[in-house]
Amino acid sequence: MADGRARVGVLISGRGSNLAALIKASQRPGYPAEIALVISNRPDAGGLAIARSHGIAAETVEHTPGVFEDHADTLLKTAGIEIVCLAGFMRILADAFVEEWRDRMLNIHPSLLPLFPGLDTHARALAAGVKIHGATVHYVRPTLDQGPIVAQGAVPVLPEDTAESLAARVLQVEHRIYPLALGLVADGRVKVERDRAIVQGAPAGNASLLSPPD
Ligand code: GRF
Repeated sequence: MADGRARVGVLISGRGSNLAALIKASQRPGYPAEIALVISNRPDAGGLAIARSHGIAAETVEHTPGVFEDHADTLLKTAGIEIVCLAGFMRILADAFVEEWRDRMLNIHPSLLPLFPGLDTHARALAAGVKIHGATVHYVRPTLDQGPIVAQGAVPVLPEDTAESLAARVLQVEHRIYPLALGLVADGRVKVERDRAIVQGAPAGNASLLSPPD
């Protein structure tokens, strides 16, 4: 980190729209992190081309349990990575890897955790009848989709929503909260205390989201 920016590695499995949002944020003057390496467990992940088009090193490591983690860990450390971001990475990582990167690895999940961990979050939100849904960036722990919450973003659930329309609305929020959360972490403004993430120096917001609106 010769220029003072944190070096970030991003793990992906698919299209890479969150990766693209992180790369875009990293190009802003003063943003405290740079995306230095992308690793996919699938050779056909669209995010690999996004990374390469920005001149970012992009590697595929095929998923064999245990082997993936060792290989990925070596690549991350060789590249001098300080923070790992999971961005649509669709595999569960070995506990040892999670512990190795404890409080240095973030994940984005398309629900307001602790609601709806796991898959099919938008269909489950519709089935539950919630009126507000959203996305969460959190530190990774061995338990799936659990860990100190750094940032969340919420959207209304509309009466006519399908899982697809709701996913699209949540994705817009994902693309805002992941760069926000990574920036805070890279700036050293997030401390983990008693397994909660404390964000320092954030302005006190007072906006309310009512759904349906009043
Ligand atoms: C996102 O919805 C993310 O929250 C989830 O997987 C999706 C990945 O999308 N974990 P993309 O590859 O970042 O476009």
